[in-house]
This record gives sequence, C-alpha cells and structure tokens, in this order.
Amino acid sequence: MSHSQFNPPGPQLLKDIKDVVGDAGWKNLEDAPRHLDDPRGRFMGRGCLVVLPDSTEQVAAIVRLCDTARVGVVPYSGGTGVVAGQLSIDTDNAIIMSLERMNKVRQVLLDDNVIVAEAGCILENVHAAAQQHGMMFPLSMASKGSCCIGGNLATNAGGIQVLRYGNMRDLCLGIEAVLPNGAILSELSPLHKNNTGYDLRHLLIGSEGTLGVITAASLMLRPVDPETATAFLAIRSPAHALKIYNEIKGHLGDAVSALELMSGLGLELVASAFPALRNPFEPGCEWALLLEATGPLGIGDRLQSALAGCLDKELLVDAIVAHSQSQRNSLWDLRENTPEANRMAGAFCNSDTSVPISRVDAFISDTAKAICEIHPDVRINSYGHIGDGNIHHNVMPPAGMTKAELVASNPGIVDAVRMAINEVSHRHGGSISAEHGIGRLKTRDLETFAGKARYDTIRRIKLALDPNNIMNPGALID
Ligand code: LAC
Ligand code: ZN
Repeated sequence: MSHSQFNPPGPQLLKDIKDVVGDAGWKNLEDAPRHLDDPRGRFMGRGCLVVLPDSTEQVAAIVRLCDTARVGVVPYSGGTGVVAGQLSIDTDNAIIMSLERMNKVRQVLLDDNVIVAEAGCILENVHAAAQQHGMMFPLSMASKGSCCIGGNLATNAGGIQVLRYGNMRDLCLGIEAVLPNGAILSELSPLHKNNTGYDLRHLLIGSEGTLGVITAASLMLRPVDPETATAFLAIRSPAHALKIYNEIKGHLGDAVSALELMSGLGLELVASAFPALRNPFEPGCEWALLLEATGPLGIGDRLQSALAGCLDKELLVDAIVAHSQSQRNSLWDLRENTPEANRMAGAFCNSDTSVPISRVDAFISDTAKAICEIHPDVRINSYGHIGDGNIHHNVMPPAGMTKAELVASNPGIVDAVRMAINEVSHRHGGSISAEHGIGRLKTRDLETFAGKARYDTIRRIKLALDPNNIMNPGALID
C-alpha cells in the first residue's frame, strides 16, 4: 500500500479542486505554515495545496476528484495530534484538507441531550455552546483551545475525564462523513439504539482519516453538576493512588471525574520551566495525584471525609484541597503544562501506553527497570491518566545533557527506549497507543504489536473501503 505509487496532482485536478471551493477555499503551502507544523517539532509537513471546504458537499466533490485521479488526501483538523497523523511527512503529492471553515454548531437538541457540531468546531467552543444551554460536553484535554471535533473523533481522543464519561467514542451518537469514493454517509440522527448491521460510526471513529473525512457529529451532552471538588495529594507510590481511588469511591460513588498521576520529577520540571507555577509539596515528594469530583452540593465535604479515611490508612503524605476556582486552575496548570515542561527538558521519548488498571504499578516500575538497563542515568517522568491505566512515560537526558549530546553518545537509544516501553506494556497485556493513535509515527509499532489477525483485518477493511488508498495514505498502515 505504499504511497509512493500516487500520482502527483496535475494542473487540471488542482484547477478543478479550486473551482469547487472558490477563491476563499484554498491556500498554497507557503501561505499556510501552521498546517505543516508538528506540535512536538519533530516533523515538517509537506503537500501541494491546502484546501478549505466549507460544506460536506464540497468535501465530497474534492474526495471524488482525488479518487478518480488517485491523489492522496490528508485530512487536517486542529493540528494538535502528536503522532503525525495530520502531516504528509514524506511526499509533496498530497492535498491537505483542512476542515477549519466547517466550524458551526448546527443544532442543540436539548430533549435528546445532543449537540450537532461540525468537524472544524474547536473543542472549547463546543464546551461554551453546551454551557449556554446549561449543559456540558465532557471531553477535555490541555489542547482544548485548538483541537477540533473532527480530529477528536478521528483519533478517538481521551484526555482527563475518560474515567467518568468515556472517550470520544463513548460520547458520539451519530456521524456524518465523506467516504473514500466521495459518498456521503449521513447518520447524525441521535439514536441510542440502532442495530442495523455494522456500526459504521465506530469504524470511522479512531480510523485517523484513513477511511473517510468526518464532517460532523451528534455528541452527547451531560448535566452540569452543582459542585466541584479538587484535591492534590502527595503520595508514596502509584499503587497508593489506586487504593485512594477505591477508598474515595466508597464515599463518593462514581463522582470522581479525573485521577491524574504526576511524578516528583514531573513536578520539579514543570515548576522550574514555568516560574509562575509552584510545586506545593516538600522537596522529595515522590508521586502526586490530582483528583477531581463533581456532584450534588456537599460533594466537597464528602471528599474531605474520604481523604480523612485515606490519612487514617496512611495512604497520604500531604493533601491540598482547592478552595476556589483560581486554586483549582493553579493545580490543573501544573498537570496541563507537564508535556511542555518535558519537551523543554529534552524529552526524546513520549509514550502513550495503557495497561489493565490492576497492572499500572508493576508497569511503571518494570518500565523504569527496563529503561535503566538501556541507560542508567536518563530521567523518566511517568504521569497521566492512572484511573484509565494510561501512563505517559516521557524520557529525558540526564540533567545537564542535551538530547543531541545523549543521542550522539548513544546511537539507537531513542528506538531502544521506545521499544522497551512498548514491550513492557505488551507483556502486561497493554496497548502501545491508548489515546493518541498511530499516525505516521507508530506504523511499525502497530505492525509489531497488533497481532496478525488484527493487523490483517485492518488492512482488508482499508482495501475494501479505499481501494485506491487515497485517504490519509501512510497513516496507520503504510
Ligand atoms: C497528556 C497528553 C500528552 O495527557 O496526552 O498530557
Ligand atoms: Zn494523555
């Protein structure tokens, strides 16, 4: 399925595409630099035209033209993906299709608890639209101000509230998409029950633009809880994080919406990279847990009693409870700036691995051992969505050394560390990609760890729906 077989787009195809969208609907690459950027600075995107359709019909017309001409289309959403799923990294022969002009909330159906949003809607704007109607849309992550609904669906994005509300797949009731032959799949009706054969919505969600272009979706809204309680806890080990979660569930039921692990190293890095942020714990704090619960009035008091129970059981070293929205924001700033602090410290490996929740503690310690055998002095910041079993291991050079210096003196270390983490995750029954997807960065890893039946089935589905391999060629499988 190599993308090298693609035809370069000829002048007639480019003219036909421009005619579909009109003058406001396309840009040359040199006028659209942000569409080529990789958020982690590792890749530079390529392509021959950025096209900006403003309707599903325009998307369909362009896809039909590209299918006939056998020219690749790379769908582009908010551009925040970290596995190069939205970037053509080794060929100019691709049309970059940005959905940014399809950014309307089409409908809010309060009786159905549904918002119908176009793919180019920024996630935070969907939050705001829901809030205007006294509701909330639960998907949330640090990139909420720029990531878009289309990419959230294409990658089945997760983030910080999966524990209680599920990932994007769990929040989508209906979908509209343009398939690789240009047909429009129009299934936005917000049905809770619909057993009429294969669920094409779920096939498209998580397909990373390889089976079609998602243009709109019906998304579930939730009621806003009257009270939010946020606590930041210093703890001794990831195993204690799960014991604390169980203790708190005993008092609060399923009200815990976020349970984020941070490491002592991560806290130090974020506090030194962002002087406005303060590590509230004593130096030497090994692990920390950011916990948020929402529910009826009184949930904060119940959280306090639950934490007292944790203290009695010697599960807590220290505890801070936010008393205002601004205190809550300061705690979340520590967590949400962690990836940037890692990048600034020279992170050369950023895993997105998950294991069964019961294995998280062993996964973290076994990963540290495996990396230590490769290089005893690299620094490991293991953090993330511990309640989902989704731990990001970010690995950095020893203090005082740059990434370039480390790699120069240890050729092969980047791949060795990545593969060691993948292998430990696999050994614990885990996944090499929990919430970021495969993109172009992890195609080899997918091939290695997916298992033959899964990998062959993915290839056969792709071939059946996109026989000319025009949709996001090179992503997921190549
Ligand atoms: C996070 C991103 C990296 O959890 O997934 O910070
Ligand atoms: Zn994450």
